[in-house]
Amino acid sequence: MAKDLIICRCEDVTEAEVLQAIEQGAATADEVKRLTRAGMGHCQGRTCRRLINQMLARQLGQNVSDQRTVTQRPPLQPVSLKVLAESES
Ligand code: FES
Repeated sequence: MAKDLIICRCEDVTEAEVLQAIEQGAATADEVKRLTRAGMGHCQGRTCRRLINQMLARQLGQNVSDQRTVTQRPPLQPVSLKVLAESES
């Protein structure tokens, strides 16, 4: 894989950045997320999580199934200004 390969397209995180995070001691996808923002984007890691887990497993000599998934947070629902204005009165 090329080092400038985008792993997390939501946050523009490259393979080199994920590898650097692992070299700095990240051992879980959540730790990679905290160091690089990979997994914090709009899709909440649905696209990049599997790639990050594969990279962690390869670098740490573990099975992919041993990797925990990243913590996901539900997206906020958009609220129209009309609803906000009506809630003031
Ligand atoms: S691709 Fe990583 S958060 Fe969407």
